[in-house]
Amino acid sequence: MTTDAPHAIVVGSGIAGLLTALHAVEHGCRVTLVTKDVLEHANTRFAQGGIAGVMFDDDRAEDHVRDTLVAGAGLSDEDAVRVLVDEGPERIRELVALGVAFDRDAGGGFVKGLEAAHSYPRILHAGGDATGTAIEKALVARLRASAVEVVEHAFLVDLIVSGGRVAGVELIVGESDTAPGRRESLAADAVVLATGGAGELYAHSTNPEVATGDGIAGAIRAGAAVRDLEFYQFHPTVLAAGDSFLVSEAVRGEGATLVDEHGRRFAFDAHPDGELAPRDIVARAIAHQMEAQDGRPVFLDATHLHSSDPAERAAFLSRRFPTIDAVIRERGLDWAREPIPVKPAAHFLMGGVATDLFGRTTLPGLYAVGESARTGVHGANRLASNSLLEGAVFGARAGDAIAADAASGTWPTAAAAPQSRAASAESRAAHDVTAEPGRSGRVGTAGEAPAPFSRTALQELMWEDAGLVRDEPGLGHAASLIASWRAQSRTPRTEHDFEDENLLLVAERAVAAARARRSSVGAHYRSDDAPAPVAPPEKEAVAC
Ligand code: SIN
Repeated sequence: MTTDAPHAIVVGSGIAGLLTALHAVEHGCRVTLVTKDVLEHANTRFAQGGIAGVMFDDDRAEDHVRDTLVAGAGLSDEDAVRVLVDEGPERIRELVALGVAFDRDAGGGFVKGLEAAHSYPRILHAGGDATGTAIEKALVARLRASAVEVVEHAFLVDLIVSGGRVAGVELIVGESDTAPGRRESLAADAVVLATGGAGELYAHSTNPEVATGDGIAGAIRAGAAVRDLEFYQFHPTVLAAGDSFLVSEAVRGEGATLVDEHGRRFAFDAHPDGELAPRDIVARAIAHQMEAQDGRPVFLDATHLHSSDPAERAAFLSRRFPTIDAVIRERGLDWAREPIPVKPAAHFLMGGVATDLFGRTTLPGLYAVGESARTGVHGANRLASNSLLEGAVFGARAGDAIAADAASGTWPTAAAAPQSRAASAESRAAHDVTAEPGRSGRVGTAGEAPAPFSRTALQELMWEDAGLVRDEPGLGHAASLIASWRAQSRTPRTEHDFEDENLLLVAERAVAAARARRSSVGAHYRSDDAPAPVAPPEKEAVAC
């Protein structure tokens, strides 16, 4: 590598950022990867279920494309979905070559896993339910052995924009509980946002605390286009005993059922595919059932899986789902013998920084990959296990594109999304709506001074008013409270302060997008524009 090689800064260390960095350095770029914690502490390591891909002879790319488009509720970008599906197998083989040991059967073939809304069991997993950890470990090991320079504990304060293009990043480096950290500017030819989603927006989330929307907020401040922020996916099942802990959809893929507190299987009331209906539908069915039982959780029942002998069943569960099994047992529950309490939680942001098929944003020199990007593959609702795949496919593409764009010297950008006339009319109307000053029982009650800002207050507000089910009064209330919090003067000093500013900015945009989209679609469900519920199937729901 020569000293005049193009310099790319990758911000974030999940699957998408790591693969971008590895591809860019392979093409001769000088690459610096900065991450706000240590390399391993990205959201990727929490991924349990696996990675989807057409890896078996009797599966078909057409079917994976169709499943993805159906889950996306008609709002996915079909070209992006085709890239995802067509290049997925090559990326999975690359992961294998980089040392990811996906689980194999006695004959040496990959073990097949099924998750909701897939027409074929095309999910590969590693370590049973530790797929993300296996991928993160292998990629981090490869990165540490590469020429990529790594800066850990480096927080993205802002993008540096100069002459209409992104020219570097401003960071806080080395902040700890006892030391303030130092401000540093780092110049670059290209900056890649791989900063993940914003699970910290919500009171209940499967994400680690680092998911504070830093890259998306930085992109907004720098003037890049963002899209689809109204589409937040809620995972149907986190353990409702102790902190939110993801219980993979793969558990339902193995046959576990959802029952109410009286043991009645209720998911078929919402959709003919029951527990394996698209994620947004199952999550709402659970929320609806919880409301009917005064907020108490529903139950995930695995007590009929594998064997009628509870000891054999326990052995199967701990072998197939070792991570989940350990946490469930730690919390004093025995899922081989009794159903476990579960509830939905915020899981994945479908929207983000708008990109083309190579991770290019609308701002020259700025790229976005992984959950912080809006590539268009997920539409209104992501298909299970397509997120690791998206990170791998579009991360690799961005890494390849940076080198080519630098060589061309033109730094092409994604086209700004054309706004349809209907959308802009809706958007104007949404901004004209006078927000209700407050709603009883919510953060900031009618007639009172607005509640003071705290991250917890924001999370409760978003959960209540911009969560699984929304309506105009709730969204209007959220908009006015967020606006009043943003107007309060604070000078951010610590990383936590900057994170709060980022969360407030992303929340403001997400709520505005949700108000502008007046019709329910996918994960964006408005009770003031509810489509007719899907009729229950003819057959009787099975009572447990
Ligand atoms: C899960 O294991 O249920 C999560 C997988 C995903 O979000 O795709």
